Amino acid sequence: MERTNQLNQLVGFFYLNGQITRAFHGRMAMNFILEMIIMANRNQLLTLITGADKGIGFETATKLGEAGQHVLLGARNAEKGQRAVDRLRSQGFVVDLVVVDVTDKQGIDQAATKIDDEFGHLDILINNAGIALDNHEKASKLSTAIMRKEFDVNFFGLIDVIQAFLPLLQKAKSAKIINLSSNMGSLGLATDPQSQFYNVNSLGYQASKAAVNFATICFAKELAGTNVTVNSVNPGWTATGFGGRNLNEPTPAGMQTPAEGAEQIVKLATDSKNVMTGTFTESGGTLPW
Ligand SMILES: NC(=O)c1ccc[n+]([C@@H]2O[C@H](COP(=O)([O-])OP(=O)(O)OC[C@H]3O[C@@H](n4cnc5c(N)ncnc54)[C@H](OP(=O)(O)O)[C@@H]3O)[C@@H](O)[C@H]2O)c1
Repeated sequence: MERTNQLNQLVGFFYLNGQITRAFHGRMAMNFILEMIIMANRNQLLTLITGADKGIGFETATKLGEAGQHVLLGARNAEKGQRAVDRLRSQGFVVDLVVVDVTDKQGIDQAATKIDDEFGHLDILINNAGIALDNHEKASKLSTAIMRKEFDVNFFGLIDVIQAFLPLLQKAKSAKIINLSSNMGSLGLATDPQSQFYNVNSLGYQASKAAVNFATICFAKELAGTNVTVNSVNPGWTATGFGGRNLNEPTPAGMQTPAEGAEQIVKLATDSKNVMTGTFTESGGTLPW
């Protein structure tokens, strides 16, 4: 604040002093603007979203950009990621690309080192990258090769990302890990005969998201009382290309827009109190584990 006052006085002085040459005046004005930008950036939350080149991740990046956060847009494909970054920058948001495949541990570690070198911390980590490869095959028929691929991205990838970025989150004033789970990963809903998920049968995807919830529980317990909160979010059934859905097909009744899917993630990411930890929520409230 004191620095702002000093700068204001300086600008006022040069404004009043008609003797100053136009070039010098212009340079001072530019310096003043740069100082203002640097000061604003210091207060800007730094948020990494994995798998954010499309779908719910991209929508979350859009909303958090709008909210004034500095978004590090994660994408495994550099070209697709850059296109997404360009779209967001054209709207005036502060966005940078982080090329990261969550199944590539070395690449994750390199990305964490680069972000640490450049920014020295991370405020929010949103583990959004996910896949669903099983197609409601019976548990007795689904190949373990498919399940392993789902676990590699949805669970082991998420753990590798958390482990690599936790030291950066611990350097922030107040930090968050938000894990994208699913109502399909809820053991409570899967075993409740009244639930619409009782008859759902996607062992690989469901087990991988139940494992994500367990990661949330374990990390939340380990980090209780520290500056880092850890929560699971269910975006709900959302009209993205997830699981190979054709985006040109009409949206089925009851399917949400990506903006609706991003709602609860954005709510947690913009919650300035940041006291909630170890929860599993959606925009409608709390879900059973
Ligand atoms: N849509 C739903 O109905 C729904 C419901 C419940 C939960 N979810 C969860 O919400 C999250 C986002 O889903 P979505 O609907 O937005 O799906 P989506 O449109 O298919 O987006 C998934 C994102 O994950 C990325 N990804 C996949 N494998 C990756 C890897 N190995 N490394 C890094 N990124 C990878 C994709 O990148 P590419 O563009 O390169 O493929 C894409 O950016 C997922 O975790 C999903 O399980 C979705």
